[in-house]
Amino acid sequence: MIIIGATSGIGEHLARHAVNKGYTVGGTGRRIDRLKELREELGNQFYYAEMDVTHFSESRSTLHSLIEQMGGMDIIVLNAGISNHPASSIIAMEQKVIDVNISGFVQLFGEAFLYFRKQGHGQLVGMSSIAGLFGSSRAAPYSASKAFISTYMQAYRQRCNKLKADITVTDVKPGFVKSEMIEGKKGLFWVAETEKAVRQILKDIEKKKSYSYITRRWRLIAWFIKLIPNWVIDRI
Ligand SMILES: NC(=O)c1ccc[n+]([C@@H]2O[C@H](COP(=O)([O-])OP(=O)(O)OC[C@H]3O[C@@H](n4cnc5c(N)ncnc54)[C@H](OP(=O)(O)O)[C@@H]3O)[C@@H](O)[C@H]2O)c1
Repeated sequence: MIIIGATSGIGEHLARHAVNKGYTVGGTGRRIDRLKELREELGNQFYYAEMDVTHFSESRSTLHSLIEQMGGMDIIVLNAGISNHPASSIIAMEQKVIDVNISGFVQLFGEAFLYFRKQGHGQLVGMSSIAGLFGSSRAAPYSASKAFISTYMQAYRQRCNKLKADITVTDVKPGFVKSEMIEGKKGLFWVAETEKAVRQILKDIEKKKSYSYITRRWRLIAWFIKLIPNWVIDRI
């Protein structure tokens, strides 16, 4: 299993949990020190590579060298993401969110899809969000980026079905989960412990689910959210 964005939060905990369950895991991120610490902690079942997902061609070739080092890849978890980001202007901040959450995602998703096509099987897991179910005035590019990746994954799921390819596409939609991303943010509720969230994520990956709501209660809430008329959502 390769986890893109394994240096903190959900990705880091998922790497730890998966290694403890016997998986060979490859982790990436920009913070190489964190990856080295994980290697020391987890031993030689954990491989790592420094990667910035916004350096598109470099990130694609880093993915291939990590696959080579590990002797193959059956599952990729595209977890790297940012919400608000310090930048010189609102437009620059919004662009950065799009670069990481959409462009970085698409580049590696496409590369992994081709790899799995050649191999004949595989599983693509994308870290979307409940936030992708509607626009959010507090995080416009973030909510839109998560809507993009969920729709994108649905389209690829259709493509896999048409091609009769043995490739699973799992769309993970967490509510709030404890991590650096939400540190200091106000007005959050039902914040899940990271360990609990990753236990549920790995279970859903193993069950090859198309949709994974984290924690479980969000499946029902998501169903209600989809019924809310736009004129109500527009006034939230
Ligand atoms: N926490 C929540 O409440 C929540 C809810 C729904 C969805 N999510 C999603 O879950 C995913 C993980 O978030 P988290 O909450 O665990 O936050 P986090 O602790 O901030 O982790 C984000 C991860 O993304 C990586 N990343 C960010 N920018 C990158 C870049 N340019 N290149 C490569 N890697 C990059 C980070 O690695 P480096 O900084 O080392 O590069 C880090 O490993 C995100 O996609 C997020 O949108 C989180």
